[in-house]
Amino acid sequence: MFLKEPLCCCTPKYTVIHTGVKAPVKVALTGDWHVTRIVSDKQRRFLKQKLQAIQPDLIILQGDLFDTPHSFDDLRLVAKLKKNLLACVKIAPTVMVIGNHDQVEPIMTPPKSRIDYLKHARKNVLDEWRRICKECGVKLLIDEWFEIKGLRIFGMWQGPEAYFAGPGKRGESIEEMRRHIKELGQEGVLKFRPKKAHWFAAHAPINELSNMKELAGFNVFSFGHTHGGCVPIVVDAVVDACGGHGGIVAPFQKWFPKHFMRGQETLPNGASFIVNAGMVMAQGSAPKPLHYINFIKAAEITEVILRD
Ligand SMILES: [Fe+2]
Ligand SMILES: [Fe+2]
Repeated sequence: MFLKEPLCCCTPKYTVIHTGVKAPVKVALTGDWHVTRIVSDKQRRFLKQKLQAIQPDLIILQGDLFDTPHSFDDLRLVAKLKKNLLACVKIAPTVMVIGNHDQVEPIMTPPKSRIDYLKHARKNVLDEWRRICKECGVKLLIDEWFEIKGLRIFGMWQGPEAYFAGPGKRGESIEEMRRHIKELGQEGVLKFRPKKAHWFAAHAPINELSNMKELAGFNVFSFGHTHGGCVPIVVDAVVDACGGHGGIVAPFQKWFPKHFMRGQETLPNGASFIVNAGMVMAQGSAPKPLHYINFIKAAEITEVILRD
């Protein structure tokens, strides 16, 4: 019963200093909306209420806004998603990175092969995301930069292949993401500028890859993909207090605490690594009871303040 609605008012807040920005910049992170027919308007009310309270200079949408990319074929779902996007844009400039559910439909049975897996990826879906983002005034970042108030944000695209872990497996491919980051470095896309703050945004937390030399100039890393919004805050708090951290099964077939699940930590080079657990209301991609065990988190929007 409590899977359907956001029942908490959780807004983690982090301040990152020594970033080089002249005036403080406030960023709000949200994502994993997984818009479906059963996601009610309460999600949008939660979104609006929290964002209005934060009053950010920038909103980063961390991906998985649809539960399946085939939702583009359902005009009611497109309208529902657009309402959410417009609610964000009304409050602050908004950028978006693409999640796995935004491009590959969730599958219940692990794929037998790469070909079997790629059958579930929607063709030309980036064009559909470009169109909807343009219509709503959202800047879609597909291996692109966006700049605001001395802050440069790079949105990395983790394409369908990044979520193929191998035959018979579900999850992510760290090798594919490593390959892609190296390629971006070789192509000269990851260029840093003096006296600017640099922010790396992607959907699935890349954890150990954040120390790759190609990414050394980033002050902040932000991600989604780990899911919140499935239980009331009190349950979330109890699980957290017991050391569960709101989930057990982490990305890349790892387990918490080996893999970072949500919140903020400081990397050895001083950069901040932040995971927003999002506000998924119902999610059909994980088999039950794994679905309940893994996603014991309340909905959250993360507030980050960058200062010099
Ligand atoms: Fe998600
Ligand atoms: Fe995801």
